Amino acid sequence: MFKVNEEILTDEEDVNKYHEFSRLNNELATAQREIIKKKVELEKLNASKDQFLGMAAHDLRTPLNGIVSLSNLLLEDTIELNEKEQLEFLQMINSSSKHMLNIINDLLDISVIETGNLQLNFEKVEIVSFMSRIINVNKIMASKKALQIVFDYDDTQEVLIDASKIEQVINNLLGNAIKFTYPNKKIFINLSILDQDLIITIEDQGKGIPEAELDKLFKPFSKISTKGTSGEQCTGLGLAIVHKIIESHKGKINVESKPGIGTKFIISLPRDAG
Ligand SMILES: Nc1ncnc2c1ncn2[C@@H]1O[C@H](COP(=O)(O)OP(=O)(O)OP(=O)(O)O)[C@@H](O)[C@H]1O
Ligand SMILES: [Mg+2]
Repeated sequence: MFKVNEEILTDEEDVNKYHEFSRLNNELATAQREIIKKKVELEKLNASKDQFLGMAAHDLRTPLNGIVSLSNLLLEDTIELNEKEQLEFLQMINSSSKHMLNIINDLLDISVIETGNLQLNFEKVEIVSFMSRIINVNKIMASKKALQIVFDYDDTQEVLIDASKIEQVINNLLGNAIKFTYPNKKIFINLSILDQDLIITIEDQGKGIPEAELDKLFKPFSKISTKGTSGEQCTGLGLAIVHKIIESHKGKINVESKPGIGTKFIISLPRDAG
């Protein structure tokens, strides 16, 4: 005997049907809840994609506007420009185009990473000479701001990494250190080997990052209140790419920063991530 809504089911077949019905009803309710949850997630993703596209378009529009205006001035015959002015305009067009290309390359990198298609090509690298080469290239940029790069290490090792991706990471972090530090200061790069991990720190004596803004640092377009110390461009994509590359190597990246004192990024990478 079974009681449903004050009605008494006596037939065993009816009781079984009722149980089956209840089970299906529960499953349906669970499926409905799941669909609502997925819908909310998709709406959130869609909103962040729109925001992402809006910011990308905005960042591309500024240099593109510059290119259009400067090239218009070069093409118009109403304004007489001497050779020096023409050259200056062309240099500005060239630098705006390069900036746009950098943004587009970063956006493409982020899209490859986000869709889970980041392919790593592991190779054996002798880490000290690898780092020295990257640092030497960056020294040219640093010297323009009279910044000294000090590289320190106790030992060298062969490590298994995707060399071009890790080069991108170091270039980004060192590029930031140069961009956000005032002239005549130092940038310290330290390399150490701890058990199975490779620890790389990049420390600057720059503007620093306010504590409240540290959380969003590794998210795309995380442009925060700090700007380059010589008016350098800020897009806010570099650290999002850095974070994903380090994650894909099964490594970790942390940051310590004090406004007015400086910033230190600490990377820890397994020596054999392949
Ligand atoms: N070493 C640093 N010192 C001070 N602020 C920093 C430092 N590194 C990053 N930041 C802050 O974090 C923000 C995000 O850095 P990120 O490298 O992602 O972008 P970006 O340098 O602005 O642009 P890009 O996409 O060209 O790298 C920067 O805009 C800056 O405000
Ligand atoms: Mg950067």
